[in-house]
Amino acid sequence: MAKTTAKPAAAPKAAPKASAAKKAAPASNGQTASVQPILNQQFNAPAPLQKYGTVSQRLPIGLDEKTRQQSVTNLNQLLADTITLRDLYKKHHWQVVGPTFYQLHLLYDKHYEEQSTLVDTIAERIQILGGVAVAMAHDVAELTSIPRPPRDREEAPIQVGRLLEAHQIILKNCHDFAKQADEAGDDGTNDLAVSDVMRLNELQVWFVSEHVVDTPLARAE
Ligand SMILES: [Fe+2]
Repeated sequence: MAKTTAKPAAAPKAAPKASAAKKAAPASNGQTASVQPILNQQFNAPAPLQKYGTVSQRLPIGLDEKTRQQSVTNLNQLLADTITLRDLYKKHHWQVVGPTFYQLHLLYDKHYEEQSTLVDTIAERIQILGGVAVAMAHDVAELTSIPRPPRDREEAPIQVGRLLEAHQIILKNCHDFAKQADEAGDDGTNDLAVSDVMRLNELQVWFVSEHVVDTPLARAE
């Protein structure tokens, strides 16, 4: 029998009276009365299906629990950092100013979309491994290793610097995580770290770095 650390869901308790739904019953005209959704069930909920930080062995993918646990922990770090970088691109897409506005405005949004796709790929790998993917902004903010930018609007060279720093943090982690996955025999996670995360981040570093130029744009010399 496959071992799992996830607790099975208990039977749901009764919902609060105030929001209890009316039982569907045939109306006097012969039609079924409308059923109301039951709200606020989370305040009276049983144990969660699976606790964050645990790893289920439910899917038979040929990896032991220790390997899955290590990969899930590393992938959740990559996920939190990738979500943060994705959102940093959107912030800069909205707030960019200057003579390179149009180029950067478009480039930032392209990179946002690509990071967004990567977020989904990482999160689904975590679920395949039997883990629980971090998702909400509150939790991502606690987990990410990318420094928090101010809410203020910043000049384009500062935006570029922040993005390159964030890419480098992800890439350094990714090299470590890829090696760990390789040594543990988790080829799928190693492939994701190298083929998806590393390749995309390196490519985006190239495109963003080409905007680090010291050229007078307003005055011909
Ligand atoms: Fe836009």
